[in-house]
Amino acid sequence: MSQHDEASGRAGRLQWMREARLGLFIHWGLYSVAARHEWVKQRERLDDPAYQPYFDHFDPDRYDPVQWARAARQAGMRYAVLTTKHHEGFCLWDSALTDYKATNTPAGRDLLRPWVEAFRAEGLRIGFYHSLLDWHHPDFPVDGLHPQRDDEAAIKAAEGRDVRRYADYLHGQVRELLTGYGPVDYLFFDFSYPERVWGGMGRDDWRSPELLELIRSLQPDVVVNDRLDFEGDVATPEQYQPARSLASGDRLWEACQTLNGSWGYDRDNRDWKTADQLIRMLVDGVSKDGNMLLNVGPTARGEFEPYAVQVLADLGRWMDAHGRSVYGAGPAACTAPPDTRFTQRGDRLYLHLFAWPFQHVHLAGLGGRVRFAQFLHDGSQVHAEVTDPGQQAQNTTMGGLGSDVLTLTLPVRRPDVAVPVVELFLEPGQ
Ligand code: GLC
Repeated sequence: MSQHDEASGRAGRLQWMREARLGLFIHWGLYSVAARHEWVKQRERLDDPAYQPYFDHFDPDRYDPVQWARAARQAGMRYAVLTTKHHEGFCLWDSALTDYKATNTPAGRDLLRPWVEAFRAEGLRIGFYHSLLDWHHPDFPVDGLHPQRDDEAAIKAAEGRDVRRYADYLHGQVRELLTGYGPVDYLFFDFSYPERVWGGMGRDDWRSPELLELIRSLQPDVVVNDRLDFEGDVATPEQYQPARSLASGDRLWEACQTLNGSWGYDRDNRDWKTADQLIRMLVDGVSKDGNMLLNVGPTARGEFEPYAVQVLADLGRWMDAHGRSVYGAGPAACTAPPDTRFTQRGDRLYLHLFAWPFQHVHLAGLGGRVRFAQFLHDGSQVHAEVTDPGQQAQNTTMGGLGSDVLTLTLPVRRPDVAVPVVELFLEPGQ
C-alpha cells in the first residue's frame, strides 16, 4: 500500500465525518464486570486465571442497543464507535478465530450484530474500535506493557511466542469484521507504541501496510485512524483539548474524550465532566476543524450509567437548537474575541459565548460584512452596529471603535442555554 494511494481517496472518505463532528465512543467488555478501568488486567498484573471470573460472570441481561442508539441520536451524535475487542483480548462478536468471545459467556450471543443493526436503524454511521494489543492471545509478546511484564516465569515461558502468528490472527479478525457486518464507516485501531517501553510494538509487528491493503480491498471507503503507526485519515488526540488544529492536508482530527477519565465502566469514579464543559470542548474543537468522540462505559449488565444518560440528554438539548453551528461547520477566517469561539459554515458565522459579557461584544474585522444577527436558540434579532469612528464617549454613549468593528448589543440576562450562540449572516462574497 503506497502512501500516495492511501492519500488519494482521503478527502472523499472523510466527507461524512467532517459533516458529523460529534460521535459516541463505547467501551464495553469483561473489564465492565471488574468496574475499575479498562486497564484493570494490566494495572493489577492479573494473569488469565485471575481474570477468568470476569468472563464467567459477563451476563449483560439488560443490554438494549436500541436504547443506546436512541440516546446517541438524541444527544446529537451522528456516528458511534464500539470496542469490538479491547486490550484484554475478549471479543464481543462471534469470531471463528477464538473461543474468547461473548458467545461463550453467559451472554451466549454475538453482541456486535444487534448493536450494528440498532445504530444503523437510528441513522448513525458505524465505527469499530479494535485493539492491536491482546493480553490474552498466546502469541502476543509479554512486553513492557503486558500484565505479566514483571513476572520472570511468564516472560521465560513466552519466549517461543511468534508475533507473526498474532498478526495473522489480527488480519483474520479484521477481515471478519469487514465482511460480516455490512458497510463499516470507521476503524479505530488502538495503539502502536514502538518506542515507549521495552519490546514496544509498531507497524512491522502489525504488518500495517499489508493490513491497510486488506482493508482497502474489502471496504475502500472506510475511514482509518492514525494508530497503526502507518498512514491514517484521522489524528486522534486523547483526553486533552489541542491548542490548535491538528488537521494536515486532507487529514481530519478527532479528540476522544471520557466522561470521568476512564473509558471502561469505573464504578467508584465520580470525576465527572459537566454537559456545559463538554459542549465547550466540542465547540472549541470544531472551531479548530476537529471532531469530538465522547465516550460512555456501560455497566456489566449492559446499561449506561444514570449520569451518562443525563449528560447525553443535556448535550442533546443544546445540539437540538444549535446543531447547525456544529454540523458541517469549521474554523472561521476571522479571530474570535476572548472567551468566545467562532465556527463557520458557508455564509453563516457562529459566535459561541463561553462567558456572558455585560451588554456589548466587539467583533474586529466584521464591520460592514454582516447583514443580520440573531440568537440561534430562538431566532431573535441581536442588535449589530458599526459605531462612527468619530463618536465621542460621553455618559452612556461609548466612543467610536472604527469602521471594521461590529458591535453586538446583548441582553443583560444570559439566555438559559449551555452556550449562547449568535448567528451572523455574512454579506454575499464576504
Ligand atoms: C488509550 C487507552 C485505551 C482506550 C483508548 C481510547 O489507548 O489506553 O484504553 O481504549 O485510549 O482512545
